[in-house]
Amino acid sequence: MHTDFSTTLRTHRCGALRAEHAGQRVRLGGWVHRARNLGGLLFVDLRDLSGLVQVSFDPQRTPRELCDLAASLGNETVVLVEGTVVLRPDAMQNAELGTGQVEVHASGLRIVSPAAVPAIPVARAKGENLPAEDLRLRHRYLDLRRTELQANLVLRHRLMQVTRRHLSERGFLEIETPILTKPTPEGARDYLVPSRVHEGEFYALPQSPQLYKQLLMVAGLDRYFQIARCFRDEDLRADRQPEFTQIDIEASFIGVEDVIALTEGLVGALWREAGFTTPAQFPRMTYADAMERYGCDRPDLRYGLEIREVSDVFRDTEFGIARTVLAQGGRVRGIAIPGGAALSRKQVDEIEAAAKSAGAAGLVRLKNNGGQLEGPAAKFLGEGTAARLGLEDGALGLYVAAGDRVANPALDRVRQDVARRLGLVSESDHAFLWVTDFPLFDRDPETGALASVHHPFTSPRADDIPLLDTAPERVRANAYDVVFNGTELGGGSIRIADPALQSRMFGLLGIDEATAQARFGFLLEGLRAGAPPHGGIALGFDRIAMMLAGADSLRDVIAFPKTTAARALFEGAPSPVPPDDLRDLHITVTRPSA
Ligand code: AMO
Repeated sequence: MHTDFSTTLRTHRCGALRAEHAGQRVRLGGWVHRARNLGGLLFVDLRDLSGLVQVSFDPQRTPRELCDLAASLGNETVVLVEGTVVLRPDAMQNAELGTGQVEVHASGLRIVSPAAVPAIPVARAKGENLPAEDLRLRHRYLDLRRTELQANLVLRHRLMQVTRRHLSERGFLEIETPILTKPTPEGARDYLVPSRVHEGEFYALPQSPQLYKQLLMVAGLDRYFQIARCFRDEDLRADRQPEFTQIDIEASFIGVEDVIALTEGLVGALWREAGFTTPAQFPRMTYADAMERYGCDRPDLRYGLEIREVSDVFRDTEFGIARTVLAQGGRVRGIAIPGGAALSRKQVDEIEAAAKSAGAAGLVRLKNNGGQLEGPAAKFLGEGTAARLGLEDGALGLYVAAGDRVANPALDRVRQDVARRLGLVSESDHAFLWVTDFPLFDRDPETGALASVHHPFTSPRADDIPLLDTAPERVRANAYDVVFNGTELGGGSIRIADPALQSRMFGLLGIDEATAQARFGFLLEGLRAGAPPHGGIALGFDRIAMMLAGADSLRDVIAFPKTTAARALFEGAPSPVPPDDLRDLHITVTRPSA
């Protein structure tokens, strides 16, 4: 690692000074972090990317003008300082600071750039809360001066370099694909860019480089990767940004197992870089199993609380809700929570509210209190039911009687909520999981239309191809997602390399031939030119950086992120455009009347 940061303006970085530098004359540049005036004796904490060092101005040995100049320094002013590194007396050493054994006795000071009073403080007292996030995003250049954010960006950089090294060493070529593209569907809306020279025509910003990377395989480039910027106009959540970065990978003559092994190796290298270890192989679960046992396709396996079907316990009882649902072909499923009887009624009410907001009509509650089953449904259930429900003494069972489409998201919410309340989620645990055998299609319950679960270029499993026309929703895909602590880190598939099958897929998705030709003709043409078997994966790079940095939000690992309303608060984007520019682009903006 390079440690010589000397330039024509400075000899060292501030945070690098140690006892071994004592006696040396140094020149430093940095920001005034904080200044303390102890009756004429002035201490200035000088900060740069590497950390802080204390600079002292002592009227006993420092010229008067220099002391006066130092006394005038406002926080965040940029200065150049010259001085001598001196060991601090034992009693004055600061073990919390890397440079805490030394200080710099100033003999020169130049103000390079006085700072306006900072809109948000950079130096904070221990335990002092951060200003509101919108304010921090509005003044991002100041927020980015915070050590935590700087450390996150340094880690992000290191993860990027590890990615590049790891993949290039394995023969992957880093190839850039266009930003002005033709739309690729990844399930979100496109950001469109109008063409000035081609009136009424638009480029789309890529939702992912999916089709380009497939065409690179068709072209014979064999192994591709890109740290790719993707753009999706979708409803944002804490783990989504409209503009984000993927580690995008594609390879030829490759099968599911190869992609899985490659990804485990890369994820292992990334985790190691951040000081963690990963298992050599991650556990695997089929999609069907994940939905049955956890109600979602990215279960958090740091804790148990598995969902169990208990329809049989309720069958032939007089319990009305269960009877109705079972008669309609639904099921009763739920979670037995050991020790859950200790949750207060209010807490269980809140858990139920969460389940309702996820779509359930309500939760059936059953408590085992000293062997006695309690709860509104208890009177309908016979002796020995607690054991059949797996409810030990002190356990609480929460059940949803419904079809799986309703019950799964609700039970997923219940599971997560309960785990959080009972403190079962340990941030230091790392639970990886591959979810495999995704269905190829999802059927819209209202319109009956089929949609791709991943994207239309995902291949069906060979043994399920006969089902394509008869029972398409039962066709499984050669697709896989890698999950970490309940978050989807990435996903991919083996692609369709056969142009006839790809055309058939468009047909099943309700895309007629003319539309398929207009939108994806270039892909079909490529596939007809001789396509190798190929597949790949894309990992969410911001998510990985967020998790490895221990950050709560993607915004903490992106230098200039957008808000959840997709706005850039600092530079102020999006923003209106002068009418002349719009005219050049052949665009008329119609505003909804007030
Ligand atoms: P997919 O759409 O699953 O696959 O995206 C891959 C990964 O990208 C991350 N991700 C996001 N991160 C931040 N903000 C977002 N809005 C966002 N959307 C997605 C997730 C996700 O797992 N072309 C395919 C990959 C392939 O088939 O090879 C694709 O883009 O971590």
